[in-house]
Amino acid sequence: MSGKSNEGTARIASAIIERGWAALSGERVRTLIGEAGQDEWAVFQDSWSVLGPDRYMADGGRYRRRRHAALVLDGGQIRTLPPRPHYQSRDYNPLNGGIERWFAQVKPEVLGGAVFRQLLALCVDIFAVRDVACEIEAHQFRIEAGEVEGRPTPEGMHRDGVDWVGVFLVGRCNVVAGTTRIAIDGVPAITEFTLKDPLDAVFIDDRRVRHGVTPINRLVPGVEAHRDVLVLTFRYA
Ligand SMILES: [Fe+2]
Repeated sequence: MSGKSNEGTARIASAIIERGWAALSGERVRTLIGEAGQDEWAVFQDSWSVLGPDRYMADGGRYRRRRHAALVLDGGQIRTLPPRPHYQSRDYNPLNGGIERWFAQVKPEVLGGAVFRQLLALCVDIFAVRDVACEIEAHQFRIEAGEVEGRPTPEGMHRDGVDWVGVFLVGRCNVVAGTTRIAIDGVPAITEFTLKDPLDAVFIDDRRVRHGVTPINRLVPGVEAHRDVLVLTFRYA
């Protein structure tokens, strides 16, 4: 893993320790991860066009497509695990939790690609988990909007049931709204902002912060509309 972003991430890490979350512009993320190369980015972004259906939507929705991968961080090394289901208890996901959910796997060329590896390394730096054993899950999500709205977080404001969560916008196409909402334990106010540009990101202490995203609606009728994100979660092993 690269350690080049250590200095740049120290301030972000302390912001998260202080208030439980931090947001970064895509421009800043690009600076921190270094040049991934335009070709690599295009391949990475395009991999969201071949996600699989999410057949577990308890609201009957068919607006979410995804891929999933499980990895481990141990001794400073990250390795990919064989396919396994994604599980959240109903405590964390009353809508879709309580069962083992099998999704299509993140493609090996994405997992092994420079962009994914650099974003993973950035999270490791920001969450300061380099020397800690962690279970990592990677989720590629596409939420589609059409005649009906698409709901990025149909379960509403929630925790993922892990320790740390990193969310990176990969792209928005012909959609409005999809506003990120952040609620810190013990603080009545909810903070809202929108991830608009590629690699706009938010980093969350899942133990202290609940998060959600408002529904997306199609801007121009008859034209494909979607919001793509990469979510990386870390749970202490
Ligand atoms: Fe979440």
